[in-house]
Amino acid sequence: MKAILARRYGSPDVLTLEEVDQPTPEGDQVLVKVHAAATNPSYWHRMEGKIPMLRQAYGDPEPTDHAMGGDCAGTVVAVGNDVTRFAVGDAVFGAAKGAFAEFALASEKALVHKPEKVSFIDAAAIPTGGLTALQGLRDQGHITSGQRVLIIGASGGVGIYAVQIAKSFDAQVTAVCSTRNIDMVTSIGADEVIDYTQQDWDGTGPYDLILDMVGDRDFEVYVKNLTETGRMVSIGALGMDTMAFIAKMGGYKASEQEEKVFSFIAQFTTEDLTTLAELMVSGAIKSVIDRTFPLEETAAAMAMQGGKRVSGKVVVVIDG
Ligand SMILES: NC(=O)c1ccc[n+]([C@@H]2O[C@H](COP(=O)([O-])OP(=O)(O)OC[C@H]3O[C@@H](n4cnc5c(N)ncnc54)[C@H](OP(=O)(O)O)[C@@H]3O)[C@@H](O)[C@H]2O)c1
Repeated sequence: MKAILARRYGSPDVLTLEEVDQPTPEGDQVLVKVHAAATNPSYWHRMEGKIPMLRQAYGDPEPTDHAMGGDCAGTVVAVGNDVTRFAVGDAVFGAAKGAFAEFALASEKALVHKPEKVSFIDAAAIPTGGLTALQGLRDQGHITSGQRVLIIGASGGVGIYAVQIAKSFDAQVTAVCSTRNIDMVTSIGADEVIDYTQQDWDGTGPYDLILDMVGDRDFEVYVKNLTETGRMVSIGALGMDTMAFIAKMGGYKASEQEEKVFSFIAQFTTEDLTTLAELMVSGAIKSVIDRTFPLEETAAAMAMQGGKRVSGKVVVVIDG
């Protein structure tokens, strides 16, 4: 089978399209014929190898694990002996190791059935961004109906789902994006849009909840834009160097803002993937696809991801 491998750390030109053996599922593993696989900032960081924690996980000084990609949608072609929820022929979405490939192995619990009315491309786009938005708003942010919610970085792979999920909780959503994304963010449900090239969101509060994908302000700035019981959930670092952001987050626990500022790493759970599938079926959320690429052009898809300017999601389509 064809697969994209990363045998070295570096820019997208380290990615190679190679012929490798098709894996065989064992135990709780499911073999998925991948139809579509999305890019994510985390795959960019894994590819670059600049974050020490990720180098430890993938191999140092060179990666020993060469697989690339994770979020995907496809069809089950084989199952391990312990698999109970899937059979050959089922359409699924979720996370499979090395999803930039014709076939990829997934743990049964990292997959759910793909709703029939949702395309493989739209389903592949959702896992990481959708889970992060859902867990950030619901579990960390304690979102409730009627709250004023500020979503900073609303046009990206987490933001597009955050806007829609916040609306599904009947929140009043203010989205922060640049001029070119105003129409898109409005079309997915934002009540108000702040164009950050024209206006600063600082001073537009107080908000009950701030979900931030950009990370470029001191914690005091977020906190002064919160209500007395408000919460700020820090997700990512679109607006600053990732290592500097990690260092900054390391300090927040000891800061005066400890009870108002929260941060977390999204978890893949069957329950939350099922919730996302239900939200897609009800029409509460949909994917926004900026661009698709064929498997042969995965390096170009990753370069686009690394540019931090994607509107919605970039998806690699494997079988046309
Ligand atoms: N904690 C977790 O578990 C977790 C999970 C997923 C992602 N993340 C992190 O969260 C961040 C967002 O991920 P993502 O997938 O949404 O990224 P993404 O898809 O790459 O975001 C791209 C979008 O961000 C917008 N943007 C760039 N700079 C901005 C700024 N200064 N202010 C507002 N918008 C800006 C861009 O639009 P314009 O060019 O028009 O501004 C573009 O639409 C990343 O740092 C990622 O590593 C964390």
